[in-house]
Amino acid sequence: MGSEGRIQNILVTGGAGFIGTHTVLQLLREGFRVSIIDNLNNSVEEAVDRVRNLVGPELSHNLRFHLVFFWILPLYSLLRSSCILLSVIYYGILITDEDLEKVFSETRFDAVIHLAGLKAVGESVAKPHLYYDNNLIGTIHLYEFMAKYGCKKMVFSSSATVYGQPEKMPCVEDFQLKAMNPYGRTKLFLEEIARDIQKADPEWRIILLRYFNPVSAHESGQIGEDPKGIPNNLMPYIQKVAVGRLPELNVYGFDYPTKDGSAVRDYIHVMDLAEGHIAALQKLFITENIGCVAYNLGTGCGTSVLEMVAAFEKASGKKIPMKLCARRPGDATEVYASTEKAEKELGWK
Ligand code: UD1
Repeated sequence: MGSEGRIQNILVTGGAGFIGTHTVLQLLREGFRVSIIDNLNNSVEEAVDRVRNLVGPELSHNLRFHLVFFWILPLYSLLRSSCILLSVIYYGILITDEDLEKVFSETRFDAVIHLAGLKAVGESVAKPHLYYDNNLIGTIHLYEFMAKYGCKKMVFSSSATVYGQPEKMPCVEDFQLKAMNPYGRTKLFLEEIARDIQKADPEWRIILLRYFNPVSAHESGQIGEDPKGIPNNLMPYIQKVAVGRLPELNVYGFDYPTKDGSAVRDYIHVMDLAEGHIAALQKLFITENIGCVAYNLGTGCGTSVLEMVAAFEKASGKKIPMKLCARRPGDATEVYASTEKAEKELGWK
């Protein structure tokens, strides 16, 4: 509820995805009205229906879902393989201006949570133009529509990837930023673009949330992470091994200078991450001159790959077969967050 007693409208791009569904659930429970815009590239509409069921009939009428341009990715791949010229004509931003015009002209949004984006590191190396077009150009267009319709509050989904291979731990928000691959560069550039947009027009209020490694699921088990194809990330990979869809987990690296030789990350529960978005939103609404500011969303604790597997086995009662493999190129030894700034300024932990 806003200060004038009106229910606030939030647009969540990519709201049907893993982080999106959990965030939307919390937004609805906190009394926001939510519009999702998603192309279902790596998600399914059923997940949105499940969010509706979880919040019940009273709150589910506060949720709208806009499906956009879902056919462009398969079409893109098909055209790439058959005809380069046609692919140039058809390959474009995944959320079109027409889609955005329709969504913004229907609802006056108070803020946008922008989660939509491609996020597979390997794919970004193979198809950088796809990543720059979708993640960069798509976001620039989103800012343009937000400005056109007078909505200048943005919570942007950034990533710990902007710290590159940090020399010191924990990662503090004012570390120098660098990216290791095209996906990481899109996050880095989008942070810079956000800072420039805000500097040029101080009416903007922008929070950049640097996620560490989001894992787990809502306690109901009704929503969670279920990437299409073979997962790139550790937790969904373990989950697929646990249910027998994949035979074993490849552990990338067993000779790192860490407690057990496997790499260390900061795994954060997706419901805590969802709460982090609510905290960021509240901060945007109450802080007139916030400018453009970044916050880490992590736990501050480092956990190794082998510890994750052991914890999963203990919780699920299932054995996870493993194969120790060479390090994955580009992986850092150890990455975890400093949580101080988010704790102090967002009141979130
Ligand atoms: C990765 C990306 C990061 C991105 C994030 C998105 C890289 C280098 N980084 O982070 O840019 O923001 O995903 O979610 O890809 N592991 C295995 N076996 C597996 C999968 C992973 O051992 O099958 C290990 C990895 O080597 C790593 C840890 O598990 O040490 C976590 O990997 P992952 O879940 O892919 O996350 P990040 O690499 O931290």
